[in-house]
Amino acid sequence: MSQVSGRIHNRALLGRVMPAGAAAAFIEPGSTVGMSGFTGSGYPKAVPMALAHRIEAAHASGQPFSVKVWTGASTGPELDGALAQVNGIELRLPYNSDPVCRERINRGEMEYLDMHLSQVAPMAWQGFLGPLDTAVIEISGIREDGSLIPSSSVGNNKTWLDRARRVILEVNAWQNPALDGMHDIYYGTALPPDRKPIMLTRPDDRIGVPHFRCDPDKIVAIVETASPDRNLPFAPADAACRMIAGHLLEFLSHEVARGRMPAALLPLQSGVGNIANAVLTGLASGPFHGMTAYTEVIQDGMLDLLDSGRLLVASATAFSLSPDAANDLNSRMEAFRNRLILRPQEISNHPELIRRLGCIAMNGLIEADIYGNVNSTHIMGSRIQNGIGGSGDFARNAFLSVFMTPSTAKGGAISAIVPHASHVDHITQDVQVIVTEQGLADLRGLSPRRRARVIIDRCAHPTYRPLLQDYFARALQGSYGLQSPMLLDEALAFHQRYCATGSMLSS
Ligand code: COA
Repeated sequence: MSQVSGRIHNRALLGRVMPAGAAAAFIEPGSTVGMSGFTGSGYPKAVPMALAHRIEAAHASGQPFSVKVWTGASTGPELDGALAQVNGIELRLPYNSDPVCRERINRGEMEYLDMHLSQVAPMAWQGFLGPLDTAVIEISGIREDGSLIPSSSVGNNKTWLDRARRVILEVNAWQNPALDGMHDIYYGTALPPDRKPIMLTRPDDRIGVPHFRCDPDKIVAIVETASPDRNLPFAPADAACRMIAGHLLEFLSHEVARGRMPAALLPLQSGVGNIANAVLTGLASGPFHGMTAYTEVIQDGMLDLLDSGRLLVASATAFSLSPDAANDLNSRMEAFRNRLILRPQEISNHPELIRRLGCIAMNGLIEADIYGNVNSTHIMGSRIQNGIGGSGDFARNAFLSVFMTPSTAKGGAISAIVPHASHVDHITQDVQVIVTEQGLADLRGLSPRRRARVIIDRCAHPTYRPLLQDYFARALQGSYGLQSPMLLDEALAFHQRYCATGSMLSS
């Protein structure tokens, strides 16, 4: 089969072009597959679908068939959705946001390892996750010398290409050729005791090479595609989003005025979701100029900021753009090329670099307790929503760690501020600022009792504030009114009430 895309410039590899079905036949039942993909960007689109068909056919004839799937983070419906639909994934790591996977995970039909994204590659090298049988990696082209031009996400691709026994490549002609040169692939990581400092001191530093290298003998199949990345559109910012963005921008202005932060701020990290996107859009018309971003994903708001001229450069591991913004970027890629850098996620999320650069981390939460412990993953303590993603990498190591949420969920039936978080993934020490549409709680330098008063007064919805004040006042008087006052038999009463009555409010 000869190539149709014109993107494979290595003659020896041309002979390995084949249809997706033939490539998927290399993947054995029970094996581990490392796929590219980070949010709906740069994930393989044809081989996972072909694998899903194979799995479905095997199940129809009574044969068990499932695989373990490692990626960068979440992917798109052609990968997670298609494989989960046919019950083809036995274990998934390190992050998921696909609804079909989510259901299977929560029903206990799929094992899920929800991991800090910076730690995935080092842990794969440590070896305890087991061997990696096949890498399936989307790229945007193959150069004459056999090196690979990355596509719209980098994620863990370098590690999967290095670790896998065999490699299947998808060359996607939808990806803009002008992506070539945008990536910075760092090959200097090692395990202890051989780790060296990573010499990146500014968000726009380039410390690696633009292409992946891959042993050509491991490449067993190349599949050509021309399929778009798929991310959901962002919802237009509602009043709550705009108020959260407004509180945060006012706070950052105060920090600059008090000399606690430079006028251009510090490198921004912005998490997933509509609120984070609204904050970026707010920054585009705010007072700050000469900003930079050292973050995980580049979403629509980040492009608005670049367009406004206020953001000079953004470093990330992936694009996470709505379909409109992806088309817009594709039509103007050349113009952005020198202001965007995509890196492996172990570098975009590296604790050493986040601490050195002094990032401003802005992430979402599901609930926070009155002492500032944050739950960003589990609803009612048990049902996983997405995963911690990169929020832990950034929150612990940032110069300023901010968490944002509307003060209520489900039409007011749930308070995002609760007496005791039903699950904790960001401990109080990693949470410096909480913002809701009600206001902003600056928790820096505050002991637990002071934190409780500020969080309840500034962040809780007025409907829930008296309940929280009452809980805290009685906890102070109780036998466990100690460093962090707690009523052991009532700490989860808000959650119990919601499960019993459909509302956290007292009847
Ligand atoms: N209790 C119960 N359900 C809640 C809730 C609460 N306290 N808060 C939110 N929810 C529900 C919402 O109602 C919504 O449910 P639906 O899907 O049935 O509509 C769902 O959780 C998602 O909430 P939404 O308001 O749409 O959230 P979001 O898009 O702003 O995302 C997080 C919020 C916390 C889920 C998201 O930020 C996340 O996954 N964070 C962890 C990973 C991360 O931070 N990654 C970035 C690092 S770079």
